Amino acid sequence: MWPTTWSSERPIRRVGRIAGRTTEAHTCGAQRDEVTLEDAGLNVTLPDGNPGYFNYYWLRDNCPSSFDPETRERAFDIFGLPAAPRPAAARVEADTLVIEWSGEDHTSHHPLALLAEHARGERRHDPADLPRTPWYADHHPDITRVSQPRLLASEAERRRWMEALLVEGVAIVTDMPDTDEALPETALLIGQIRPTFFGPYFDARVHVQPTNLAYTSKALELHTDVPSEEHAPGIQFLHCRANSVAGGLNLFADGTAVADDLRATDPEAFRLLAETDVPFYKEHRGIDMRARQRVIELDRHGEVSGVTISQHMADVFDLPQRVLDDYYPAFVRFGRMLQDEKYVMRFTLQAGECITFDNRRVVHGREAYSATSGERHLRGTYTDRSELWGIYRAMVSEGRFG
Ligand SMILES: [Fe+2]
Repeated sequence: MWPTTWSSERPIRRVGRIAGRTTEAHTCGAQRDEVTLEDAGLNVTLPDGNPGYFNYYWLRDNCPSSFDPETRERAFDIFGLPAAPRPAAARVEADTLVIEWSGEDHTSHHPLALLAEHARGERRHDPADLPRTPWYADHHPDITRVSQPRLLASEAERRRWMEALLVEGVAIVTDMPDTDEALPETALLIGQIRPTFFGPYFDARVHVQPTNLAYTSKALELHTDVPSEEHAPGIQFLHCRANSVAGGLNLFADGTAVADDLRATDPEAFRLLAETDVPFYKEHRGIDMRARQRVIELDRHGEVSGVTISQHMADVFDLPQRVLDDYYPAFVRFGRMLQDEKYVMRFTLQAGECITFDNRRVVHGREAYSATSGERHLRGTYTDRSELWGIYRAMVSEGRFG
């Protein structure tokens, strides 16, 4: 963000002016200090000696004075300018570009070091944009584990947890109290509770009148949750309150690892799954929820950032049948790969553990279990990815970890 203070104590070294529609540069002294004005923007020498070009609208809109010092939000209204912004004069003073704007009583002071960050039109650095590490069936012993009381007490532990979620998409919180409060207390550390049409929490155990396969003792195929909502929830929490039944092994797989392997072995199938929207739905207590999703999600780098798959919430694919000639084999190939022993972690989540995972990257399921052999109760909720990213960015940029 832009600073709110700058120094005007140092002498003017360079000046550029617009005379009518012609452009001229005033170059007193070394060439590297030159400012030249064009019709739509200006050129200025940056601290590294390279030239930088900046558009006049951008310079006016992002004048450091445009931002409210308390909220850091832009308080300037560029729509209110009477005419396109143009400099009456521009010069470099010490390490600052100074622009006197034509037609308004306003002067901008842009630190050259900050201009340099935008000279190449590159996206702002994002501390939360960490490279993902794929994992496979043998990952269970290596899953990042963090103790819930330590999470509550230690920001360094919270950072370790968040980094595991960003990089590997999964972590286990241990030592969870056997209370209803423990789950929101934990989830709120990385975002607001994100309700779905099932409500803010759900209880995966045998229900008398189940509305979802999760509420039975039947096997649950590998899936991501709630793709029938426009934005499926990003982070899922499953707090194991009891698990003494026979069977019911928990299944997890890294969907991005599987999708990366599909890309390497069958690029056309990968392309179809990454480019085709397919419908998901859920009819539930007075709501007919529908959304279209891509099975493979790509990030801005073109890398696989997630998957969305759920056979029990997949609607009838309403694509042209000729398209389905190609789509279905790709869909089935990917679904079979997800189930491959190479990828699927199988273990029993223990009472007192809460597995936390990226619901749009990690697929989960369970084997069938005997409902009469004991008790099995997982209490779940969600937060969103963007709040995880936002809280992590703020922690990193504020340097709160020694
Ligand atoms: Fe689920």
